[in-house]
Amino acid sequence: MINIDKLIISFDGALRTLLTPAQTLRSVPGSDLPEAELTDIEKRLSCALMRVNHVGEVCAQALYQGQGLTARNETVQQTLMQAAREETEHLAWTERRIAELGGRKSLLNPLWYGGSFAIGVVAGMLGDKWNLGFLAETEHQVGTHLAGHLQLLPHNDEKSRAIVTQMKIDEASHATMALSHGGAELPLPVKFTMKLGSKVMTQTAYWV
Ligand SMILES: [Fe+2]
Ligand SMILES: [Fe+2]
Repeated sequence: MINIDKLIISFDGALRTLLTPAQTLRSVPGSDLPEAELTDIEKRLSCALMRVNHVGEVCAQALYQGQGLTARNETVQQTLMQAAREETEHLAWTERRIAELGGRKSLLNPLWYGGSFAIGVVAGMLGDKWNLGFLAETEHQVGTHLAGHLQLLPHNDEKSRAIVTQMKIDEASHATMALSHGGAELPLPVKFTMKLGSKVMTQTAYWV
């Protein structure tokens, strides 16, 4: 049951994600590494890839908030909210790295947030088994995507690589968490549609 408190918390989450700098308890991975000498082309590439990852984290915030809003089981709700807090650190890390590289965040973040929040609400309404299954599949796909970025990032941009590497480890643990709470395997057409959706998002965020 959705109550007014949860709606206020969700609204607060949206404003924090979109308008305020994200906070991190853990230190930013790679913060002790020296800044590499990057060419302009390498810098632009790193910026674009980290912008895509930042958008991914904006979407993660929105999905978790939406799913938490409609999840039926109290434990699942708490787990989702805890995971959303952990994702905030990823948001902070990518945000800081974009700034270090002299880049900018996606101009379409409110749009990504709104769309992902709506998807999260619907996933939550389908029941906890599917809600958690959706979460696990999302995290699997994000993990594959991050592995791809580790191939694409300039080899000497160790600071960005350290962030992406730690995020990949964290996303895998989120997937395990979702499955251990009873997440179901999603039907193939759903997985395919999710891949298609994230492709549109990542390719747009690379530029805008
Ligand atoms: Fe994340
Ligand atoms: Fe995650």
